[in-house]
Amino acid sequence: MSMPSDAVSPPRPLSHGRAMAERSTEATDVAPASDVADVADGGAGSAAQEAGGLQVRGLSKVLGGRTIIDNLDLSVREGELVSLLGPSGCGKTTTLRMIAGFLAPDTGTIAVAGQDVAHLGAEKRPSAMVFQNYALWPHMTVFKNVAFPLKLRKLPKVDIARRVDAVLELVNLLHHRDSRPGRISGGEQQRVALARALVQEPDLLLLDEPLSNLDAKLRVKVREDIREIQQRLGITTLIVTHDQDEALSISDRIAVMNAGRIEQYSTPGELYARPRTEFVATFIGSLNRIEGSYRDGVLGSGSDVVGIRPEDVAFSATALPGYRPATVERIVPRGHFSEVYLRRDDALLRSYLGGVAPAPGDRGYARISKAMIFRNGLLVSGTEATADQ
Ligand SMILES: Nc1ncnc2c1ncn2[C@@H]1O[C@H](COP(=O)(O)OP(=O)(O)OP(=O)(O)O)[C@@H](O)[C@H]1O
Ligand SMILES: [Mg+2]
Repeated sequence: MSMPSDAVSPPRPLSHGRAMAERSTEATDVAPASDVADVADGGAGSAAQEAGGLQVRGLSKVLGGRTIIDNLDLSVREGELVSLLGPSGCGKTTTLRMIAGFLAPDTGTIAVAGQDVAHLGAEKRPSAMVFQNYALWPHMTVFKNVAFPLKLRKLPKVDIARRVDAVLELVNLLHHRDSRPGRISGGEQQRVALARALVQEPDLLLLDEPLSNLDAKLRVKVREDIREIQQRLGITTLIVTHDQDEALSISDRIAVMNAGRIEQYSTPGELYARPRTEFVATFIGSLNRIEGSYRDGVLGSGSDVVGIRPEDVAFSATALPGYRPATVERIVPRGHFSEVYLRRDDALLRSYLGGVAPAPGDRGYARISKAMIFRNGLLVSGTEATADQ
């Protein structure tokens, strides 16, 4: 691991941030979610970016007689934040543990910053992991908790103090330097755990559901903190979550995982707009899922699955071109908007409406502006209704 002893002040020089910004620009320019590119390696990146990040190839693991990870490929570019998103039990933690070196894969290669790490133990890998439960030592002060990995490496005391203080400042916890973990809040404990990983100046930061113990408001705050620090340092990061909001709001790219495989790997916008499978479409964002057919804005009978985003269903109290008669069945107030359930063409459609909501039983007109058609779980077409439909 590259660990210059003078590098935590701040841990990475400002030029990293600049390099990061340049990389991000390039990434958006060159990484459309083309069909071929975004499954295996997440799209085109320059050789330098690929070499500097994480490359996982052909990773498999059988546990308890079941294939838990099934020939998984994943590339994270240098400086990128990627979320591994999927339902409970799909193999996210298992994947992360193999990358970190806590679990030996049955097959596959893992390279971090251009170095093959498969044969190295966790402590020798240029990666640091933040665990879901923080794993802080209650009897040690915040300072000592963060200093621990550096002490293990027998760094001189003065260097340890400098690096720990710099990283505590980075996560805004210097004032709690001498507090014990039990005396600080959940969000602060989470930042101590993050600091303990960052102080190691890893080439790769791994986070397993780092926010799951926090309440809803704090989750949003801490995830923004993590993203901000990650971008400031330009540190390659892989974060595990089953929370789509979290993944969508902080990731450069998201790898959507299902049953031990990556089902689609792309930018948040692409995944939402062009999900390749029904699983991805339902996992990312909300979806009206209707069995039948869809043609020119009209739902009919059939054996396909029609997926319609709530924001693609519009409601009008008066007749308009392309709108068909609909009845309001149910309203769920959501603060600044309402979820409105509409009955149209024999289907129940959820729609988001701002302003004054209609009442249950109201009659009006609804228009479907866009639908995705899935057959055998795969997207076969995404259709936009013409203006007069
Ligand atoms: N040592 C083990 N022996 C047998 N099965 C295991 C073992 N470890 C994990 N599994 C199984 O592997 C599957 C994937 O587990 P994993 O912890 O990776 O899921 P996950 O995606 O992280 O889920 P969650 O979101 O609930 O944390 C689960 O079905 C789990 O029961
Ligand atoms: Mg897990």
